[in-house]
Amino acid sequence: MKEKILEYLEKSIESLQEEGRFPADFDLAKIKIEYPDYGRGDYATGLALQAAKIIKKSPMEAASILKEEIEKQQPKEFEKIEIASPGFINFFVSEKFLLKEMEKILEEGKDYGRGKKNGKTVLIDYSSVNIAKPFGIGHLRSTIIGQAIYNLYEFLGWKAIGDNHLGDWGTQYGKLSYQIFEKKLKDLPLKDYSKELAGLTIAELEKIYVDFHQEAENNPEMIESAREWFKKLEQGDKAAKTIWNACVKISMEEFAKIYDLLGIKIDNAIGESFYLDKTESVIKEAKKKGFAKQSQGALIFEYPKDDLPPAMLLKSDEASTYFARDLAALKYRIDKWKPELFVYEVGVEQNLHIRQVFLAAELLGWAEEDRLIHVAHGLYRASEGKFSTRKGQTIHLEEVLEEAIMRAGKLIEASEQSKILPEEKEELSKIIGIGAIKYNDLSQHYSKGIIFDWDRMLNLKGNSAPYLQYTAVRCQSLINKAKTLQRPGLCKLSLEERAVLGALFKFSEIVAEAAKTFSPNLLCSFAYELAQKYNLFYEKCPILKSKEKDFRLSLTEAVVQILGISLSLLGIKIPKKM
Ligand code: ARG
Repeated sequence: MKEKILEYLEKSIESLQEEGRFPADFDLAKIKIEYPDYGRGDYATGLALQAAKIIKKSPMEAASILKEEIEKQQPKEFEKIEIASPGFINFFVSEKFLLKEMEKILEEGKDYGRGKKNGKTVLIDYSSVNIAKPFGIGHLRSTIIGQAIYNLYEFLGWKAIGDNHLGDWGTQYGKLSYQIFEKKLKDLPLKDYSKELAGLTIAELEKIYVDFHQEAENNPEMIESAREWFKKLEQGDKAAKTIWNACVKISMEEFAKIYDLLGIKIDNAIGESFYLDKTESVIKEAKKKGFAKQSQGALIFEYPKDDLPPAMLLKSDEASTYFARDLAALKYRIDKWKPELFVYEVGVEQNLHIRQVFLAAELLGWAEEDRLIHVAHGLYRASEGKFSTRKGQTIHLEEVLEEAIMRAGKLIEASEQSKILPEEKEELSKIIGIGAIKYNDLSQHYSKGIIFDWDRMLNLKGNSAPYLQYTAVRCQSLINKAKTLQRPGLCKLSLEERAVLGALFKFSEIVAEAAKTFSPNLLCSFAYELAQKYNLFYEKCPILKSKEKDFRLSLTEAVVQILGISLSLLGIKIPKKM
């Protein structure tokens, strides 16, 4: 409908231009269509406010001129078009259109709004956790948002490819190998390494890494030894490789537990190490095209006109770099999947690095700027006192998820009319707890810092996953109770019914917008609004005992469908009971 309104407005301006009542150079791209507040129609534009100055009229006059021009085109889609102070034009979609859309929702069910296969591919780099470190809360954001973006694109007909760019390489593994060797393996024969390492946990690996830094403060020569260990690793040294393999294995098992809890499965997990032998040809290409330069023994990628600070391709000891591996990964992805679009869901703190990778790819002629997207999420901030961080260091994700599940369990216990059987509680706590974590993250724009507020996250009456889950469950149980469902005849709509229909109508537009702007939060606000409108309707309008029963049940079913699709795109499950 936004498109349609845009067309009407463009035509209006064109005909005003022909009559000489509107300047010819007006930029049509400036027209914005918005979703107004309740009671002000389904769509609105502030175009007249901009146009007023240009045509030297008051905003209200400009609005009425535009409205007249639109009405000359006899649009069938609207019940009415209203002008509202200080100069907005509000569009009210006709009931006939809204009801037709509801029928479509009921007919198409789960496939409503799904796009046809468009033959295009989007590559999404997300999660991208680091080996030998705990799955941090920062990576949680990348995982949740990346997955939602993946789901949105796939829903719209794209072929989506997820790639978990595992951080499994880098100088830190030199430090780790050195320390592990010194503390655990020094006196053992190589053949016993694996056995000795098998019992290590991620927490121990993390501690070993921290210990290294502490000890190195007084023994700076350790840094040099660690560098040598990394070099050995890059050259494929047996001992170094064995230690590294063990670290990868321990980490992957640990991460699998978390992905499992989150219900997330990423198509590929190609670690940085995979690209080691692929950096060479990338470096060659950069040299050939004149971007690589020797600098203080290292090899750097230089950006013309000093657009960005140089990035390191090779260290002075020939060790490979994060940047070179990332470039090689991008090249590999282009060759393998030929994606139209690349989405890197990586924290904002890596902004410079990602810009360097993307600009290098452009300069090398691999991909244009508008195909390379950095979805740079903001940081997590724990609101004070809400959860403690062990030793005040990295927040451990597993603990956070477990806490969410535990709190969800309490929520279930506290709800009085709960008919949840003890054996159902565990699964339900998981669905609610994990849903709450995901929704908390997704419902705010990715660029914003996220605050953990357990009470808000699990508030059954607020903008939270449990609220939406509860609404969906309640709708479904109404439908189950009704047993037979007749298609309604036409009836007069109440204000509340009209509001629900108006909300449903926007679904497809919102999904498209959320994908285009990589903003799952738009879908969250949509779902919240829909649930609120439905709940208002539920309070005000009797359903099963009314003579509009058929229509009201159909409306309820449409809401279940749309809430269901929305939550599944967000990766949030709906329980059977709640
Ligand atoms: N493993 C990196 C980190 O945790 C994130 C990788 C993001 N993706 C990429 N292609 N650089 O810092």
